[in-house]
Amino acid sequence: DLYNMRHIGPDTKVHGVIGNPIGHSKSPHLHNAAFKSTSFNGIYLPLLVDNVSNFITTYSSPDFAGYSYTIPHKEAGLKCCDEVDPIAKSIGAISCMIRRPTDGKLIGYNMDHLGAIAAIEEGLRASSGTTPASGSPLAGQIFVVIGAGGAGKALAYGGYEKGARVVVANRTYDKAKELASKVGGQAITLSELNEFHPEEGMILVNTTSVGMKPRIDETPVSKEALKHYSLVFDAVYTPKLTRLLREARESGATIVYGTEMFINQAFVQFEMFTGLPAPKQLIRDVLARNT
Ligand code: ATR
Repeated sequence: DLYNMRHIGPDTKVHGVIGNPIGHSKSPHLHNAAFKSTSFNGIYLPLLVDNVSNFITTYSSPDFAGYSYTIPHKEAGLKCCDEVDPIAKSIGAISCMIRRPTDGKLIGYNMDHLGAIAAIEEGLRASSGTTPASGSPLAGQIFVVIGAGGAGKALAYGGYEKGARVVVANRTYDKAKELASKVGGQAITLSELNEFHPEEGMILVNTTSVGMKPRIDETPVSKEALKHYSLVFDAVYTPKLTRLLREARESGATIVYGTEMFINQAFVQFEMFTGLPAPKQLIRDVLARNT
């Protein structure tokens, strides 16, 4: 899939993913395949970069139409933008940079929260069995975010944007408090989470590395507490079925896998790069082939 590219011509839009390491990235596979299938005249390259600022000033010719950013360059990328979307600024990191066609300026965005939030909304709609209403199914819901790092911020802002009542649960209380204050939410420490159940049917998202390989026996919350949640999302995707998700499913909650966050942000980035609707099934198939 990686070399399933279109011919390059004068009008070809060049994109790339900036990271270090980059060899493992699945983004080139899926974006090149998606460009080809939609006849979008673009290519997408893996870009192994040490210093983002040097790269952007030296190599970013106007022919580069857009970039994705991955670990560890999401924060450094923010500093290289001509303009930054307000949400990305609040999160303190970008996941994507687009060259504005009208003036060539590089605009930074963070799509990570959109990917996760879209996956959670889809899970809520599917589990309620109702036809999609115009508003978000997250509106008015208690949305508990475990963690207050980059991913925690992205999810907290994402939930806030959708009108959810955000609760930030973090090991370090001060960080929870700082983030909660920005999204009009409540802060608790992670150790309080097991006893926290102001109402039933809440939504829980884990953005910490708790439960990630090799520590697959760990979970951030007791199984007993999970019965108060209707949906649980885990940003950890190695393993796909974490202990948290397994226990949530056993407690009757709808579960949303961390892989959905990546897949959905790929849809959003494709749409930003091309202005076309994402070929969702094709992207899922390419990812399935390359995992
Ligand atoms: P990311 O950008 O992936 O969110 P990060 O900025 O390093 O990563 O943030 C990691 C988050 O996971 C933090 O909220 C951290 O809690 P602290 O603020 O107390 O450091 C949380 N975290 C990491 N390891 C953890 C563990 N073993 N138990 C509980 N929380 C943990």
